[in-house]
Amino acid sequence: MTAELPEVDVDRPNAARIYDYMLGGSHNFASDRAAGDAMLARFPDAAKAGHANREFLHRAVEHCCSLGITQFLDLGSGIPTRGGVHEFVERRAPGARVVYVDIEPVAVACCRALVEGNPRVRVALADLRDPAAVLSAPEVRDVLDLGAPVAVLAVASLHYVAPADDLSAVVAAYRAALAPGSALVISHGSDDLDDEVAAGHMRDLAAVMATSATPAYLRDRAELRAALAGFRLVDPGLVDIRRWRDRSDLPDAAVYGALGVLDAAPATAP
Ligand SMILES: C[S@@+](CC[C@H](N)C(=O)[O-])C[C@H]1O[C@@H](n2cnc3c(N)ncnc32)[C@H](O)[C@@H]1O
Repeated sequence: MTAELPEVDVDRPNAARIYDYMLGGSHNFASDRAAGDAMLARFPDAAKAGHANREFLHRAVEHCCSLGITQFLDLGSGIPTRGGVHEFVERRAPGARVVYVDIEPVAVACCRALVEGNPRVRVALADLRDPAAVLSAPEVRDVLDLGAPVAVLAVASLHYVAPADDLSAVVAAYRAALAPGSALVISHGSDDLDDEVAAGHMRDLAAVMATSATPAYLRDRAELRAALAGFRLVDPGLVDIRRWRDRSDLPDAAVYGALGVLDAAPATAP
């Protein structure tokens, strides 16, 4: 697909800026704060759920570092309200390289200001639904070597891919471009988790997002498992993010998380 990238529209709330507001940031407008407040009215722990998602991101990135991966492509990276992935990985994998990708101009501008002068980090304004455009972006080509393992992070960003945009095909296009040993980390809102209260909260958040510039689409476990085809999921598989390397102390989020590794294709018999 050829994506048209949006202009800043301060009157329409969007995911990056609402999330920034929920996490306590200052890169948001009145429309974003109103949407955030509507979420909090329905789900008072919504901000804590955002923090639980960031916790999951950190645990998953830590695991990628333990696999020896030193390149990260963060799709839908958002506004670095609580610090970016590059700050987290540079303590665990010195010299690691990171490319941030977001479709939201405010998020991209904030991120660029944060990483200016850092030769190992770039920020691309691009649409993650267009893998060819993302992977050929100069920021990606400058910093990442796609011939070596890369961890693709798609954390709380794939639920903005509409059913018509075929999530499985989008993920498959990234997978096809990755070297063996690469990884994919996802988290994704859902309403089919066992916890009915949490599922109701996620439906409430999606109802608010439906009025924004970035509607969210909840997917069930089977749909997400299908989108992860070709990746070997590390334990404990595709689960509630609180159960991924057990953080049951975190508040409910009704978000699935998984980390998949791309193994080398088995050698074919002569
Ligand atoms: C909820 S935030 C998540 C930020 C970060 N990944 C995290 O988990 O903390 C979702 C981000 O995805 C971005 N996003 C949504 N649709 C996108 C698209 N088609 N291409 C690139 N970014 C997108 C939004 O702009 C927003 O910054």
